[in-house]
Amino acid sequence: MKKGFLALCIAGLAAFSAACGADVNEGGSSSSGSEDDKVIVMGTSADYFPYEFVDTANGDEIVGFDIDIAKQVAENMGYELKIEDMDFGSLLGALNAGRVDFVMAGMTPTEERKENADFSDIYFTAKNLILSKGDAIQSLEDLNGKQVGVQLGSIQEGIAKDQIDGAEIVALNKIPEIIQEIKTGRIDAMVIEDTVAKKYLDQDSELSTFEIVDEEEAGSAAAFRKDDELRNQFNEELNKLIESGEIEKLAQKWFEEEAAPAE
Ligand code: ARG
Repeated sequence: MKKGFLALCIAGLAAFSAACGADVNEGGSSSSGSEDDKVIVMGTSADYFPYEFVDTANGDEIVGFDIDIAKQVAENMGYELKIEDMDFGSLLGALNAGRVDFVMAGMTPTEERKENADFSDIYFTAKNLILSKGDAIQSLEDLNGKQVGVQLGSIQEGIAKDQIDGAEIVALNKIPEIIQEIKTGRIDAMVIEDTVAKKYLDQDSELSTFEIVDEEEAGSAAAFRKDDELRNQFNEELNKLIESGEIEKLAQKWFEEEAAPAE
């Protein structure tokens, strides 16, 4: 703080008092800040219905399964939840740069990610599918020489590289973009989680799918900076919600709901 500015604050000029008192972290990453600053910032990638998506019918609010869990856990920990939306591939960087306090984005705790972040327990599991337009693609072999879309930085990118021979992998930032590329025929197929694919399959009868066999289930967990005590507090509250059946209830609410909003 500059000396002159400090003097103004001391003089108690009303117009400046708020600025003097403001925590530099206000509105930003704050759990490591002062005790009474009870905002916690979660990073997410709101392109992942029904985990997290922008509810265009309701003032562009970000809602979904992860958001409900995060709100509940944050409230039980005595924090107000603030959400920062960004590309999936930027989330762990933002976490480690201190721009967000934790990440929830249907994120799978892989060994590679565990080198840069600590994860909560897994709160939900899903499987991966191949989604394409029409019925020409029925097996991984059919993808030889084809273009396969994946979300940049996702485990689906790794699955596509490891399991599909001879395909060109096209990594894009947002899931709806990849769906659009398939619908318009610019790319041939994508690797996508079953729970996320459901909405698109329900809405467009031209899209078809098959499960990738021998694939491990992909679980979702919340990510924290390494050795951050917040992880333990969060995990404790998360486990209470798992044990009380609250997470199961939320899973029913979000994953078994029939009417998904259109893009
Ligand atoms: N489970 C996958 C992963 O961890 C994909 C998650 C994508 N999440 C999202 N919000 N777009 O890589």
